[in-house]
Amino acid sequence: MTATTSVHGMWSNRMAFILAATGSAVGLGNIWKFPYIAGENGGGAFVVVYLLCVSTIGIPVMMAEILLGRRGRQSPINTMRTLAHEESRHGFWQLIGWGGLIAGFLIISYYSVVAGWALAYVFRALGGAFISLDGETAQSLFGSLVADPERLLAWHTIFMVMTVVVVSRGVRSGLEQSVRILMPALFLLLLLLVGFALSTGKFMEGLEFLFHPDFAALSPGAVITAMGHSFFTLSLGMGAIMMYGSYLPSSASIAGATIAIALMDTLVALLAGMAIFPLVFANGLAPGAGPGLVFQTLPIAFGNMPGGLVFSTVFFVLLVFAAWTSAISLIEPAVAWLVENRGMARVRASAYVGISGWLLGILTILSFNHGAFSFDFAGEERKNGFFDLLDILTANFMLPLGGLAIAIFAGWFMARESTRDELAMGDGPAYRLWRFLIRYVSPAAIAIVFLNAVGLV
Ligand code: TRP
Repeated sequence: MTATTSVHGMWSNRMAFILAATGSAVGLGNIWKFPYIAGENGGGAFVVVYLLCVSTIGIPVMMAEILLGRRGRQSPINTMRTLAHEESRHGFWQLIGWGGLIAGFLIISYYSVVAGWALAYVFRALGGAFISLDGETAQSLFGSLVADPERLLAWHTIFMVMTVVVVSRGVRSGLEQSVRILMPALFLLLLLLVGFALSTGKFMEGLEFLFHPDFAALSPGAVITAMGHSFFTLSLGMGAIMMYGSYLPSSASIAGATIAIALMDTLVALLAGMAIFPLVFANGLAPGAGPGLVFQTLPIAFGNMPGGLVFSTVFFVLLVFAAWTSAISLIEPAVAWLVENRGMARVRASAYVGISGWLLGILTILSFNHGAFSFDFAGEERKNGFFDLLDILTANFMLPLGGLAIAIFAGWFMARESTRDELAMGDGPAYRLWRFLIRYVSPAAIAIVFLNAVGLV
């Protein structure tokens, strides 16, 4: 008999879950990361592979994570242990939870540093630093921030404290409520920016870059990055969504929620791309500028539009909020595990996880100044040492491998009745489609991308 509630608390209803999971999914991945990796990997074809991965891997795996979480009702480690036992399977399946815990910890370390950049930009926006900004000044403005480790450390610290405070208070209506207002506001501001991009005269060039696929230019590295990003942006493969699923009331349907979350997430990413690339081309910037791309382009738009001071401030505040609602989901599984297995109070557990992530974040801070080093990944040069290493290790490897294991467990090692009952969409074509995707399509797609990356396919 599985539990019907979690000891950590529950979402008030299905809508609250959708909001929280969307809050987790929509974050820096959509607005900061997607445009810059699309830029580095040549645009169009990369975007197509990313969209294919979201639909054939992301959606089925997200459904699997939610159903596992809701059935297990605990942190991913204990959920996997319980479910493996229930299905009379080997206990090693709990390694999915362990891998996720480590991935979440590695990701939060650099995520918090980048969210710190967004925080810094709130104050730059407020101070009028973007007024009449041109491309060159925008670049040096960003360069001066990341060259200064002390400033980065201060913002990183503030963001980590913000994250720990929310998590330590438990996931409750305060957060549900804020996401309800923040997400639509972020969306509207992005639309405004797309409107500005339209006025640059380079909109079509931007669209062309983003949507015209040139598959010949697609490297194996780009394919694996696109797949990795589909996991990253949907918060999949490390148990965050599993954790959120464990707080989902039993009666709520999973498929509809998943599709809503994935659609909103994708829309925000595409809008961000449509706002950014026209500005890149209109201001003589390079699409492959790397992690600074968003911070170098959008301020130009804001600085040259009426009301830019207000809009830019609001925008970066919203970006911080988007990052915040994502960051909490990165540490929630580890915190829940400490509470369950070490009997720790939530506050203490949150502080421990936060402090460890904060310490590791120092490596990322140094990657942009004193400790920068380069290396090659899949034939491409990476210039920001530890930051790039952590990013590649987590997004390109740990998350897809976690997703693969989740798909295999849900598709092959759980009884058909178990997944069917939990998804509660009957035994019709919808359920059979999901089962087909999770058993064959998702694992095969992940495997092919990996084999491709190591040069075997
Ligand atoms: N999805 C978030 C973003 O796009 C980041 C994130 C939050 C995440 N939780 C996660 C990524 C869990 C991987 C796994 O910014």
